[in-house]
Amino acid sequence: MSSQQTSSALQTTVAVEKITITKPPLGSPIRRTYTFRVKRYDPEKRSYYWREYKVELTNHETVLDGLLKIKWNQDATLSFRYSCRMGICGSCGMIINGVPRLACETKPYDLGTEVITVEPLSNFEPIKDLAADFSNFFEKHISVKPWLIRKDETEQFEKLDTYYPQTEDQLSDYLEFAYCIKCGLCYSACPMVFLNKDYLGPQALAQAYRWSADSRDEGAVLRLKIVDSENGVWSCHYSGTCSKVCPKDVDPALAINLLKNWLLSGKRRR
Ligand code: SF4
Ligand code: FES
Repeated sequence: MSSQQTSSALQTTVAVEKITITKPPLGSPIRRTYTFRVKRYDPEKRSYYWREYKVELTNHETVLDGLLKIKWNQDATLSFRYSCRMGICGSCGMIINGVPRLACETKPYDLGTEVITVEPLSNFEPIKDLAADFSNFFEKHISVKPWLIRKDETEQFEKLDTYYPQTEDQLSDYLEFAYCIKCGLCYSACPMVFLNKDYLGPQALAQAYRWSADSRDEGAVLRLKIVDSENGVWSCHYSGTCSKVCPKDVDPALAINLLKNWLLSGKRRR
């Protein structure tokens, strides 16, 4: 072997060694077996009961993954709602280890318990197992008129190509509240909804603020009449649980206080 050949052979060895050294080892997922304690609802008997299931999950998998494994491999009768599996559709809300959370964003590994307790959302009527009836929740949402209102109805319903420019500051007046995915976690966590089933609740009130704070909207007077009532903002005692559980950082408690401020100061008249 010539000295040139020896040198290129060495270079190859070094190059191979470099690849071996710089390539990070693939992290192996951490597998654990969890006990899922699920509170189920039987619509025929109109009663709740508990079932336990053992599920193996990695540290990357979610409570929703666990429920799907149970449904596919152990008990096809288990019912729950989900769609996007990425925290966008708001369908998979349930009470996990005592706190309202999105099942698709909650990892058992992060909860740090071997037993994972899963219950349907409170403050909602049950349909079956973990699937809750959102009819009442959406009726309240619709009742605050969550859309842009213009005083001129022709402008609102016929001139659909009209453009309403908005500055960044005007956008920031309501943007935080526009991130609501209608998951119902805030509504489930609210002690006042529990005490008064007619209370509009944090989600609908936050949306009343979101649309009224929009510079393109002229419906604040209408909405303020709706929320200025016993079942509106004045039922809120500011426990703040709604804002704590919101997966989108919407802060409904702040929105309710801002609505109260408008009502007391008479500032929002448009
Ligand atoms: S305000 Fe937050 S918790 Fe309440 S419905 Fe909207 S996204 Fe869900
Ligand atoms: S499945 Fe859509 S938010 Fe969880």
